[in-house]
Amino acid sequence: HKKYRAFPPLKKVNRQWPDKLIEHAPLWCSVDLRDGNQALMEPMNIEQKLIMFKLLVDIGFKEIEVGFPSASAPDFNFVRQLIEQSLIPDDVTIQVLVQARETLIARTFESLKGVKKAIVHLYNSTSLAQREQVFKKSKQEIKKIATQGAHWLNSYAAKQPKTQWQFQYSPESFTGTEMSYAIEVIDAVTAIWQTEAHAKQVLVTQLPVIINLPATVEMSTPNIYADQVETICEQIARRDRIIVSLHTHNDRGCGVAAAELGVMAGADRIEGTLLGNGERTGNMDIVTMAMNLYSQGIDPKLNLSNTDKIINVVEQCTQLAVHPRHPYVGELVFAAFSGSHQDAINKCLSVDDSKRKDDPNAHWNVAYLPIDPKDLGRDYQQVIRINSQSGKGGVAYILDQHYQLKLPRWLQIDFSQHVQHLSETFASEISPIQIIELFTRVYLET
Ligand code: KIV
Ligand code: ZN
Repeated sequence: HKKYRAFPPLKKVNRQWPDKLIEHAPLWCSVDLRDGNQALMEPMNIEQKLIMFKLLVDIGFKEIEVGFPSASAPDFNFVRQLIEQSLIPDDVTIQVLVQARETLIARTFESLKGVKKAIVHLYNSTSLAQREQVFKKSKQEIKKIATQGAHWLNSYAAKQPKTQWQFQYSPESFTGTEMSYAIEVIDAVTAIWQTEAHAKQVLVTQLPVIINLPATVEMSTPNIYADQVETICEQIARRDRIIVSLHTHNDRGCGVAAAELGVMAGADRIEGTLLGNGERTGNMDIVTMAMNLYSQGIDPKLNLSNTDKIINVVEQCTQLAVHPRHPYVGELVFAAFSGSHQDAINKCLSVDDSKRKDDPNAHWNVAYLPIDPKDLGRDYQQVIRINSQSGKGGVAYILDQHYQLKLPRWLQIDFSQHVQHLSETFASEISPIQIIELFTRVYLET
């Protein structure tokens, strides 16, 4: 059953969840162990990588980019360990990144010896800025780098025919690339993978090619990115045999919004990280996007119910603290300090409790709480916390929940003044124990 309300389908052009086309979650690919890792001051060691990999598997990721094995020895060794110790579940595909250079491609395939299936992710930069200033190459020369890389993937894969290969191409800095040129490069690469007789033999299973569209740097409002995604979806050749994937970063703070609009514009898959670790301002946060879907009645097919575990592992592996106001998971996101919010939550929760007794499928409809904290392994008691901003409703709620003490309205008003005074004196939050002690002192001991 769906606990959250799905609004009636809307026309695609509105780009609003849930779009008529989006009844299912997109495919997810975690890049925590590659893009996330490469952005860390202290990259993860092998133990940390294994802990993170296990968490990603437990959450339900079926595609996990595990590193850039030709660029770093720890990444190479990590991939070998996953394969040699049979740590990759049958329903999970590992992905590795590589540039379009033959020595690097050879080393990448070496790292993957013996793997049952893998996605090899080829990339080169295609934007005007990079072509002109970094590589000083023409459009034709940059396209040649991509197509040459695509040929090498075919021929190295042919030497390891027992593996089920899938290929992915990213025109890096896609958002700074002219769309007609991006399409030209993408079509040239996919033609090499999809139509060459040689490739057909190698890619026995003929899994769809993945075309990944990186907002390597977020350069525009999310609707512009969505328009670019839509152009690619509509104009590339052989779209029916291609998975269109998104890879957004968060430079303008809109990484999740861009990914959401990109899916509404026709993409099938999303790359991102847990809680948004990644280069500069981070990769798009899969937890937030998945929970956004969930709160609209769409099953994200990821189990995010144990947020404490997710936070612990992310903090342990990245050495970065999760912000207390991080959407859905932050320590404070199900806390209400202000009196009017507490009062409203309190009232809605009691209506919700009785509604749910009659109908367990009733939609969640509680003011100030976009979702039920229980769905994330949190509980209601964390919702109401008391400080000098709190009102009578919050104080009454704490006494009721913690001590089964129901105060009449006149006493709520009277007692809340004592609580406010105490909180102002200490200039801090007041715990439930301090509240009951105060109550005892004021009303029972005098
Ligand atoms: O942000 C980016 O462009 C990347 C690519 C290598 C996919 O991480
Ligand atoms: Zn990236």
